[in-house]
Amino acid sequence: MLPVSTLSFFAPAKINLFLAITGRRPDGYHNLVSVVAPLAWGDTLHVEAAKEGWSLDCDVADVPVDETNLVLKAAQAFARATGEAGGARFRLEKRIPMGAGLGGGSSDAVAALRALNALVGQPLGTERLAALAAELGSDCPLFLADGPVVMRGRGERVTPLPAEAAARLRGRRVLVFKPAFGISTPWAYAQLAAQAPASYRPEVEAEGALTRWLEDPQAAVETLLLNSMEPPAFRKFVALPTLLDQLGKEFGLAPRLSGSGSACYALLPNTVDAGPVIAAIREAWGESAFVLDTRLL
Ligand code: C5P
Repeated sequence: MLPVSTLSFFAPAKINLFLAITGRRPDGYHNLVSVVAPLAWGDTLHVEAAKEGWSLDCDVADVPVDETNLVLKAAQAFARATGEAGGARFRLEKRIPMGAGLGGGSSDAVAALRALNALVGQPLGTERLAALAAELGSDCPLFLADGPVVMRGRGERVTPLPAEAAARLRGRRVLVFKPAFGISTPWAYAQLAAQAPASYRPEVEAEGALTRWLEDPQAAVETLLLNSMEPPAFRKFVALPTLLDQLGKEFGLAPRLSGSGSACYALLPNTVDAGPVIAAIREAWGESAFVLDTRLL
């Protein structure tokens, strides 16, 4: 039993349904236009107040629990921003694989900000939380939205999808699958930069494609899917395009990479038996492949 003073926060995973990287910025980051949806599945972060200092425990052995973990970085940022002197004990139930492009660390960080804010009487409003989240990582601000968003800039400009467009996403069934290896996000961005400008998608083109999808209520999400990260990831990690092509041919699916990978996803009709698809994934990538049948939130 958890003590009554323990608060628990769901930290969903995300997938990028549309990810157009439009160019490099003077600060070294990249500008992007992305449609991101949280999944109805993720980590859980428990927190309980402590007299002083922050600590983190995790149920998965290879997750770092020192100050390199974004949960503790979030706690430090929260303390600096609020002047709060108290501490907290975090316990992370880690489910989202690392190096996956599923936003696990970023989502945990936002859960930590929300948890601390709740623990000490909500001193930070939406804007200050958003600024802190952006400081912690480019993929953090999107997790404050609790639903599908359009993300721009380096990730700090987040707009909830209009209700009608969000309704085209919510509840859609998605199969998420990841090989045993991960892909480092800085590596993926460096590959894009090395192939510039061909690797970038002009911003007007990206915004045009997004606007056309937003303005057409009949346009299913399948017509939106895009990821600028696929060419560099697929060049090096050939196991990805090999399986994705196979799933297209055998099952008529249109699977994509999420973020910088290595997790991929395929939108599935509700009636489809995922069994044969999962069997094909395990046959190609081995039993250690991660597979998840879930829904967009
Ligand atoms: O912001 P975050 O720490 O998650 O980014 C990790 C790395 O990914 C950055 O150091 C940068 O190399 C790259 N990145 C980028 N443009 C973005 C987001 C991340 O170049 N919009």
